[in-house]
Amino acid sequence: MDSVLLNDWHVVARSEDVQPGTLTKAKLLGVDLVIWRNTASQVLVWQDRCPHRSVRLSGGEVVNDTVVCPYHGLVFNDVGQCIEAPAHPGYTPPKQACVKAFKTHEQYGLIYASLGEPVREIPVFSEWNDPSYRLCLSGPYHCHTSGLRAIENFLDVSHFPFVHPGTLGDRAQTAVEDYTVSTDEDGVALHNVRVWQPDPDGQGKGEFVTYNYRAFRPLTAYFRKETPNGNCLAILFHVTPVEEEECVGWMWVAMNYAHDTPTEEVQKFQDHLIVEDFVLLETHNPKRLPLDLQLEFHLPCDRGSLAYRKWLKQLGLTYGAIAEPLS
Ligand code: FES
Ligand code: FE
Repeated sequence: MDSVLLNDWHVVARSEDVQPGTLTKAKLLGVDLVIWRNTASQVLVWQDRCPHRSVRLSGGEVVNDTVVCPYHGLVFNDVGQCIEAPAHPGYTPPKQACVKAFKTHEQYGLIYASLGEPVREIPVFSEWNDPSYRLCLSGPYHCHTSGLRAIENFLDVSHFPFVHPGTLGDRAQTAVEDYTVSTDEDGVALHNVRVWQPDPDGQGKGEFVTYNYRAFRPLTAYFRKETPNGNCLAILFHVTPVEEEECVGWMWVAMNYAHDTPTEEVQKFQDHLIVEDFVLLETHNPKRLPLDLQLEFHLPCDRGSLAYRKWLKQLGLTYGAIAEPLS
């Protein structure tokens, strides 16, 4: 298993989707999960597998602070320990009759889990506590490709005129100016990427906008876009690695304008852009991201993706990647 992604935080659900009394399913790094809340509203993320005969616990029920397995009715308390076996009233289950529980954290209206020991905090979304921004959560967005391909696409502006014509790009303005890239302990940053957009300020005229990107973690990225009018839009993008070639995206959008635009409208716009991206993302062949730089060729405007791939290689990341040259 890839220790980089194993020991990182990943989004497994929206907070609002995990209501008391319900069992929610998710999948992370190939592991089936069940998510629920105890009566103190604490979120619990467990392996979705009963230790008795290995059926899914998510088909069972929450009863007070316990989960009851749907098969033989074994009862598990909120630390995952079996405390009751209905076939044997009064029986004390052994210590190993225990569900695997994972580290969990709730923040930004999202539930994060780690299958290992997270070594870094969840990245700071700096617009979150700024009252001049309105916030909107969109997703989950399911895509059959490696999550690394989805993050790399998020860092790529040269596709805008072709994949998002009329919104993020213009076929008459395809040139990408030089920009700088840096890599440090907080990941990869793309600085001052200037992009022509058809109507960034809603004035009916095209103008250059400036993007600053950051891939904080292999599967968490951020950008801040500034328009000539001083409008600013920031996005925190989390991608959950469901399997090596399957992922789910979650996107927080923050805007210091459009305060009166209904949330549904902002979500609809994001949904539209994501659909445009995912149509192409699902055609990648290979679906995993090559970290051998020779496997695909690169343009000068790809220096952000190149830095991202080099950084992943340096971290030793393997899940969803092709780390070695193909034979
Ligand atoms: Fe869960 Fe038997 S499989 S109680
Ligand atoms: Fe796109």
